[in-house]
Amino acid sequence: MADVSRARFLVTGGAGFIGSHFVHDTLRRYPEARVTVLDKLTYAGNLDNLAELKGDSRFAFVRGDICDREIVRPLVGESDIVVNFAAETHVDRAIGDPGSFVQTDVYGAYILLEAAREAKTSRFLQISTDEVYGEILGDAANEEAPLLPRNPYSASKAGGDRLAYSYHATYGMPVIVTRCSNNYGPRQHPEKLVPLFVTNALDDAPLPVYGTGTNLRDWIHVRDHVSALHAIIETDGLDGHAFNIAGRNEKSVLEITGGILDALGKPRDLVRHVKDRPGHDRRYAIDDSKLRRMTGWKPAHPFESGLRETVLWYRENRDWWEKVKSGVFQDYYRKHYGL
Ligand SMILES: NC(=O)c1ccc[n+]([C@@H]2O[C@H](COP(=O)([O-])OP(=O)(O)OC[C@H]3O[C@@H](n4cnc5c(N)ncnc54)[C@H](O)[C@@H]3O)[C@@H](O)[C@H]2O)c1
Repeated sequence: MADVSRARFLVTGGAGFIGSHFVHDTLRRYPEARVTVLDKLTYAGNLDNLAELKGDSRFAFVRGDICDREIVRPLVGESDIVVNFAAETHVDRAIGDPGSFVQTDVYGAYILLEAAREAKTSRFLQISTDEVYGEILGDAANEEAPLLPRNPYSASKAGGDRLAYSYHATYGMPVIVTRCSNNYGPRQHPEKLVPLFVTNALDDAPLPVYGTGTNLRDWIHVRDHVSALHAIIETDGLDGHAFNIAGRNEKSVLEITGGILDALGKPRDLVRHVKDRPGHDRRYAIDDSKLRRMTGWKPAHPFESGLRETVLWYRENRDWWEKVKSGVFQDYYRKHYGL
């Protein structure tokens, strides 16, 4: 890849949680880069996440669907690096509406890959997830482990993941796939565990814990995820590879919940155990030594201080999440949790 610092990036899903952090960090790191965001602005997309960039001549926003070939082709044609964050991302919603996940996470990836093949794009990053390995009860999965997804979200992501790889294997395209563990940090949609529990606790509302709350996940600060993606983009010779990205912080839901309540000085009796999610994977665990060995990347945010800082961000930014939690969110929440 030629000079990344002057590259034209196309970031799909850039109005979402991780995509918006990636956009801000890219323009901070490379003052001469250009970033175009293509985002459908589903319920999860939020232009407030990009508000600071209004008027920045290096940045452009296009509202559109990655499944729309007519919108995608010219945008990919004008880009050097495509980073595909766009996805339906919430496992709970996938259980009720698998079709939109297959559409965006598989078919949308196909439309982007086809456009990149035609345009001979210099680099294509497919943002996959550690959930593609399915439930891991033994040793942490490395990149050679079988993909055994067990819900429509992770299965759709596995489809996009392998489709992206197939464009490398079949057409020699410069595709890299990344599989990160659970992200936390500012600006995450409050349907997800950490922001839901922080914002509920701030309002002294119950925290709905699925089942026993003993399910285990690895947690990584969103800024560490983004710095890993940049380490990958800046390293030559990685085409065709998949990389796990981990924080090496394995925590149960109850441990996360306790950390949030302690940071806010709220009592444990806010916890409500609710009916478990169907097919709830008990544990995800990934081995990211390949990434650390091949790029030298390591995370910079220790979990305890990262979580505390995140909790404080939601406390200080009530305006941001109150808007998101109003209206249709309340209907979804009541129907889903029965609280
Ligand atoms: N959040 C995590 O912990 C995590 C972990 C590993 C991987 N990932 C992956 O990272 C990516 C980003 O996740 P996130 O948590 O930021 O998600 P998010 O739900 O916050 O954001 C998704 C964004 O994609 C946009 N989008 C959805 N469908 C689209 C379409 N058809 N066309 C264009 N835009 C569309 C939405 O409007 C939204 O802005 C996803 O691919 C997800 O699978 C997330």
